Amino acid sequence: MSITRLDGRRIVITGAGSGMGEGLVRALPALGAAVVAMDVNEQAGALVASEAGARFVQVDVADQASVEAAFAEAARLLGGLDVLIHAAGIAPSSPAQDSSVDLWNTVLGINALGTMLTNQAAFGLMRESGGQILNFGSAAGILGQPNKAVYAASKGAVTAWTRTAAKEWAAYGITINIIAPAIWTPMYDRTRSEMTPEQLAAHDAFMATAVPIGGRLGDIDRDFVPVIAFYASEGAAFMTGQVVSIDGGTMMVR
Ligand SMILES: NC(=O)c1ccc[n+]([C@@H]2O[C@H](COP(=O)([O-])OP(=O)(O)OC[C@H]3O[C@@H](n4cnc5c(N)ncnc54)[C@H](O)[C@@H]3O)[C@@H](O)[C@H]2O)c1
Repeated sequence: MSITRLDGRRIVITGAGSGMGEGLVRALPALGAAVVAMDVNEQAGALVASEAGARFVQVDVADQASVEAAFAEAARLLGGLDVLIHAAGIAPSSPAQDSSVDLWNTVLGINALGTMLTNQAAFGLMRESGGQILNFGSAAGILGQPNKAVYAASKGAVTAWTRTAAKEWAAYGITINIIAPAIWTPMYDRTRSEMTPEQLAAHDAFMATAVPIGGRLGDIDRDFVPVIAFYASEGAAFMTGQVVSIDGGTMMVR
């Protein structure tokens, strides 16, 4: 399979310890990128980074001081920043009527505030020479998703934030887009583990028709990494504020 090269691109990837972030940390150095991997889970993130030929910096994306320190360290290690791929996030299940204030604050803190803080830190490093930011939204934040009310709200915030920043930061040569994936990761395994056997059977039957290509979530290396490699390249610099669905055709709306 042909895949876009990223020679010389200086890239920060959050959520590097698992799932799509991990897959990108493992793949992008081999495409020529210099990568700083970030995660709140130091053990997992540092292991992935060392195996992939990337550097690791711990961060809690919901904590402003942690984000500012981590991005300062990343800029020092990389000598600047061209691309932020902000994949860190959590997706606990909660029906709308039973969602608690604590859950709201935790999920919005990591998914929504974490997006603002990491994006602002990247902006500070990109404002002179431009750059590209990829945030992670979700179909849940656009279409809604039963049993994921608070998560859906946090991802709706990511979409609205991203589109606003796209309009403001275009003047700085900074593009910022929203990735809406449907990719099989440990996060999806956790969601599946929260279902009863009956719910799981119904879910799999639904997915068989809901995902036009393949009838199930996609594969990180085959379906996801090549798309992100392109969106992290200079060839994607005339696109901003877009929802990019990497989901086998599940969500055919913007
Ligand atoms: N898997 C899917 O199909 C899917 C669908 C829609 C959206 N998304 C979004 O894609 C992104 C990546 O998802 P994934 O499936 O790879 O998840 P994952 O659970 O496999 O990995 C998420 C990573 O984020 C890290 N993280 C969590 N909280 C953090 C914090 N406060 N600071 C720093 N790092 C933190 C975790 O330690 C973990 O390594 C998430 O934002 C998720 O909401 C995923």
